[in-house]
Amino acid sequence: MLLASCAPKTSNSESNLSDISDSTVMQYAIPGKALYESYCGNCHQSNGEGLGKLIPPLKNADYFKASIQRTVWIMRNGLEGEVLVNGQIYNQPMPGNTELTPLELAQISTYLYNIWGINEGVITSSVVEKYLRETPNLKD
Ligand code: HEC
Repeated sequence: MLLASCAPKTSNSESNLSDISDSTVMQYAIPGKALYESYCGNCHQSNGEGLGKLIPPLKNADYFKASIQRTVWIMRNGLEGEVLVNGQIYNQPMPGNTELTPLELAQISTYLYNIWGINEGVITSSVVEKYLRETPNLKD
C-alpha cells in the first residue's frame, strides 16, 4: 500500500465532540471533525494517536501542543524532513492541502484544539489567514 493512502481508519465510534460544551466552538468542531476524518484521519487516525514509527501522534503530542500557528501552517503546506515528537524521530513527508480554505482550516483546528483535554476556544478564519502568512519554526 502506498504511504499516501496510509492505513485503514480505526474505529470512528469514539466521539471527541462530547468534550466540547461551548456552542460556538461546537459550530466549528462538527464540520471540523468531518474534515479531519477526510483529510487527516487516514494517517493520524481518528483517535489522533498516529501510526507506529511512520505517522506522528497529534493527541498528547508535545509538538502539536506547542503551536497552533505551526499546525495550521503544516495543514496547508505539509511537512518534510526529520521531526521530533514525544522523543521519537519521524521522517516521512506529509503532503500539504492547498485546497482547504481558511474556514475549513479554522474548523479542523478548532476541533483539534478543543478535544483531548485542550480548551483553546474558536480559531477563526481570520486568525488562520494571519497564521498562514507567518513561517513557523518547524524544528522544535
Ligand atoms: C498522508 C498521510 C498524512 C496526512 C493525510 C496528514 N498527515 Fe500530518 N503528518 C504526516 C507525517 C508523515 C508527518 C511527519 C512529517 C515529517 O516527518 O516531517 C506529519 C506531521 C504532522 C504534524 C506535526 C507533527 C505532530 O505530530 O504534531 C501535524 C501537526 C500534522 N501532521 C497535522 C495534520 C493534520 C491536521 C492533517 C489533516 C489536515 C494531516 N496532518 C494530514 C502524515 C500525514
